[in-house]
Amino acid sequence: MPGMSRNDKIIPLADLRAPRSASLDALIREGANNTAAGSAPPQDTRGRFLHDLRISVTDRCNFRCVYCMPKDVFGRDYPFLPHSELLTFEEIARVARIFVRLGVRKIRLTGGEPLLRRNLEQLVALLAEIHGVDLTLTTNGALLAREARALRAAGLRRVTVSLDALDDATFRVMNDVDFPVARVLEAIDAAHAAGLTPIKINAVIKRGMNEAAVLPLARHFKGTGHIVRFIEYMDVGHTNGWRMNDVVSAAEIVRTIDRELPLEVADANYAGEVAERWRYRDGTGEIGVIASVTQAFCRDCTRARLSTDGKMFTCLFATDGYDLRGLLRGNRDDTEIENAVAALWRRRADRYSEIRGANTGRTQKIEMSYIGG
Ligand code: GTP
Ligand code: 5AD
Ligand code: SF4
Ligand code: SF4
Repeated sequence: MPGMSRNDKIIPLADLRAPRSASLDALIREGANNTAAGSAPPQDTRGRFLHDLRISVTDRCNFRCVYCMPKDVFGRDYPFLPHSELLTFEEIARVARIFVRLGVRKIRLTGGEPLLRRNLEQLVALLAEIHGVDLTLTTNGALLAREARALRAAGLRRVTVSLDALDDATFRVMNDVDFPVARVLEAIDAAHAAGLTPIKINAVIKRGMNEAAVLPLARHFKGTGHIVRFIEYMDVGHTNGWRMNDVVSAAEIVRTIDRELPLEVADANYAGEVAERWRYRDGTGEIGVIASVTQAFCRDCTRARLSTDGKMFTCLFATDGYDLRGLLRGNRDDTEIENAVAALWRRRADRYSEIRGANTGRTQKIEMSYIGG
């Protein structure tokens, strides 16, 4: 990656925040000066392109996973966004087309729980019209069995389903709404039958809660064609009370599986892939580990996020986002918005996971359910 080296000096957190205060017209001019028609796609200050857009379509969820939306914070009185604040499907599709012109090749619908957004298949249909894009969705599976066929028919290609344990009691404690494992397994079968493949299964592993789930999950999905990815528990948001001691490292997870089901490392599918791939030596499939804490992957991070209310974030751990909704609703044309997004991307310096440490714990962060997981 141009302009990067392992020995890059540590930059104080304050300097990592892209200045959002720049006036809109200044941004648009800055973008326009650098984006002559047909010119190269924008690169950020660390030489990274913009390849992925993760769109949060709702900040609500029907689960209360302990590592994401703990019940004592996200209770009855929690001020979720009112409907008028949400981007409409037309607005989301317009933003998506602009991002695709700037280089985006993968769009992931997230939340919150994206299937809680009514008529989501209508958004999928709008996004599926954009050529050359890998269109996917992350869901907890609760509503997936019912929606899988309609989503596939609308043009969704594949899904990622979160499932943190196979043991029912453990899973019910983790989702904290008493949701049974069996219903998620049914949803995975329905997604498979609908052709939403390859299916990935995301399991966040938290010490003292579900590290015993690693082997059963690996055993269960081995040979099914579904790919389980074990995710290190991260310090996203400021509500989950994260401590380093709660993290089960990807290395430990690989060792645990490899002892019973021998593994060998596999090449990445594409540059900047978040998961590190491991293949079963007996040829019956693969798993992934996502080592966002112990082996940060910021140097290849090509992801932008669009929050439920239309703010653009250039890092999962960013403290503020840029209000694209204001541009969409403010009579700006597509070229102006494209120039503003290009300028924001060119200013990007984020690498939170690389500099995570004592002082980052105290910074204010945005909840993952709002910014998109
Ligand atoms: P594929 O397109 O199937 O390869 O999926 P992906 O690699 O984009 O992974 P997915 O969207 O399923 O992300 C899995 C998990 O990785 C997320 O839920 C996060 O926990 C973590 N993750 C994804 N993107 C980022 C990121 O940009 N930064 C950090 N720190 N973690 C991320
Ligand atoms: N650490 C790691 N991943 C998280 N997710 C949510 N919160 C966390 C966290 N604290 C991710 C999981 C889940 C998706 C919706 O968001 O991957 O499957
Ligand atoms: Fe909901 Fe997913 Fe967060 Fe769990 S991890 S609370 S399912 S958004
Ligand atoms: Fe990308 Fe920020 Fe995650 Fe690093 S911490 S991989 S820059 S989203």
